[in-house]
Amino acid sequence: MFEFDADDIAQRSSTGTLPTKTQVDELVAAAHARYATLEEGVVADYIPILAEADPAWFGLSVVGVDGTAHEAGDTGIAFSIQSISKAFVFALVCDELGHTVVHEAVGVNNTGLPFNSVVAVELNDGSPMNPMVNAGAIATTALLPAGHADERWQRIRDGLSRFAGRQLALDGEVYRSESFTNHRNQALARLLQSYDRLAIDPVEAVDLYTRQCSLAVTAHDLAVMGSTLADGGVNPVTGERVISPESARDTLALLASCGMYERSGEWLFEIGLPAKSGVSGGIVAISPGKGAVGAFSPRLDPAGNSIRGQRACAYLSRALGLNLFASDPQPLVSPSALAHEGVRS
Ligand code: DON
Repeated sequence: MFEFDADDIAQRSSTGTLPTKTQVDELVAAAHARYATLEEGVVADYIPILAEADPAWFGLSVVGVDGTAHEAGDTGIAFSIQSISKAFVFALVCDELGHTVVHEAVGVNNTGLPFNSVVAVELNDGSPMNPMVNAGAIATTALLPAGHADERWQRIRDGLSRFAGRQLALDGEVYRSESFTNHRNQALARLLQSYDRLAIDPVEAVDLYTRQCSLAVTAHDLAVMGSTLADGGVNPVTGERVISPESARDTLALLASCGMYERSGEWLFEIGLPAKSGVSGGIVAISPGKGAVGAFSPRLDPAGNSIRGQRACAYLSRALGLNLFASDPQPLVSPSALAHEGVRS
């Protein structure tokens, strides 16, 4: 593992504040209005039940780290969380087992290939590469400590529910539809097993992964879940600490590099936020210290990312000043003032 030799340096946060409530409300409404008639992209159908989604659905929610919600459109419509679950299951596993274990067992680098790629595993000597692609997510779910499958499932569901601040329910129709058709995920799990990269039985691992993807959420839930990561692991609505600040930081770092699959680089270049998408049309984008955007619209681009959701996130990143890399110059601070604050020169 590469050492950056900076453990003794105090880390400063780039925390700022969102504009006023009225301004954020207006900008969320403006982003929604601007993209609500956009009809590019197609609804996913490789999981048969997902094809039944109404392509017109579009919900946009921003939840600040003070817990305030700003919403427009279909923010109360429930849909299956799909791949967005990968971010939050990773957060739970990282919190439980620590940074280094997940780094070594699963990896933290982008594959540059689609989310369900078998080739990516083969090209990397059996490494699933990162927890945001299907192979890595199945391997990560398998790492969650539990005595048996039911307990592992309860821990996943309860953990994601704490991020959302309400008890999340399984969408049984989505779970059954995906269970009948997830042959590729089963193949990925067997492949990982052949490389000794799966901590539990492959059938159990894929079943748990399919369940976690079938949890029903809304755009509002996604914004609350994301805002918990933005708030150092504390749910800003319930006040509950869900994970440590270090695990929230590690999750955001992974989302920045891998959350939007092979489009992660372009996403970061244009939008500058850690984010995760799901094939049912959800996106969560997180602005550390400020809050999160939860978007839902089922029309997808070829990488599996919601088109309206991406555009709305780009708009809000600019209009609300969320981009991590967009900073204003600050007045110079003298070395003696830094020393006074306890920062080593
Ligand atoms: O495993 C699958 O294929 C789905 N349960 C999740 C894929 C997904 O959401 C990809 N996202 N864009």
